[in-house]
Amino acid sequence: MKPVLDGTVALVTGASSGIGAATAAALAAQGAAVALAARRKDRLEALATDIRDQGGTALVLECDITNEQQAAAAVEHTVSRLGRLDTLINNAGVMLLGPVADAPLPEWQQMVQLNVLGVLYCAHAALPHLLRAAADGPRQVADMVNISSVAGRAARHQARPSDQPVHSFTTLLADLGTICLNTIAPADPQLPARHRAHRSPAAGIRAARHQPPPRGRVVSTPARTSRKPR
Ligand SMILES: NC(=O)c1ccc[n+]([C@@H]2O[C@H](COP(=O)([O-])OP(=O)(O)OC[C@H]3O[C@@H](n4cnc5c(N)ncnc54)[C@H](OP(=O)(O)O)[C@@H]3O)[C@@H](O)[C@H]2O)c1
Repeated sequence: MKPVLDGTVALVTGASSGIGAATAAALAAQGAAVALAARRKDRLEALATDIRDQGGTALVLECDITNEQQAAAAVEHTVSRLGRLDTLINNAGVMLLGPVADAPLPEWQQMVQLNVLGVLYCAHAALPHLLRAAADGPRQVADMVNISSVAGRAARHQARPSDQPVHSFTTLLADLGTICLNTIAPADPQLPARHRAHRSPAAGIRAARHQPPPRGRVVSTPARTSRKPR
């Protein structure tokens, strides 16, 4: 059977480790050509080699997405080298969990610069390409998936000031024509990513292929949202 994402192109930010690397590999396994964006080029090259060894297509994009020019260039290189952009996974982010009181202000600034502005820079550059891909693509739809954190929904004694803006952005742009915009909010930073692979954005995208496209959802990895704070 033809892979479900055959003929499509995905850009994954933060693809050099963790959820981003697992998501890029999963998208490639489903037939998408993947652009891998992050700062650590050696790790991106290793993942790209793995993907190519499996018969996939991978493009390495060394970039810092807190820089708006570099974020835009990552999107433009994806389109110029791979021909289109059907899926944007805004995954790059930092987890700086700690008590709300006494949190160093630079940590909050770092979270906002990467987890919020980085998402907006990539989204802004990608939107015209996503709309075009949806119009002429095999699926007649494009996807943007933002990765936030359940700490933005049930923060209790910890706080990620960057999550709510991403959730609002997702909700506000939910009806953006042919682009399905959703957020996945992972729960447990202690769990190695491989244990959560079945909840990867790629799994969500695959599931969505068989249903009316979801829009504007902020989906937490369940099971752990009611856990008491440690
Ligand atoms: N793991 C969890 O349980 C969990 C829970 C809640 C939320 N999350 C969220 O899920 C996402 C992925 O988490 P993870 O656990 O997979 O983290 P991770 O392994 O630390 O991956 C973070 C990725 O972001 C990239 N990155 C960081 N700064 C960047 C920058 N300025 N420009 C471009 N890329 C940058 C990193 O690559 P380079 O260093 O090479 O640039 C890395 O690939 C994050 O947004 C995180 O906040 C994760």
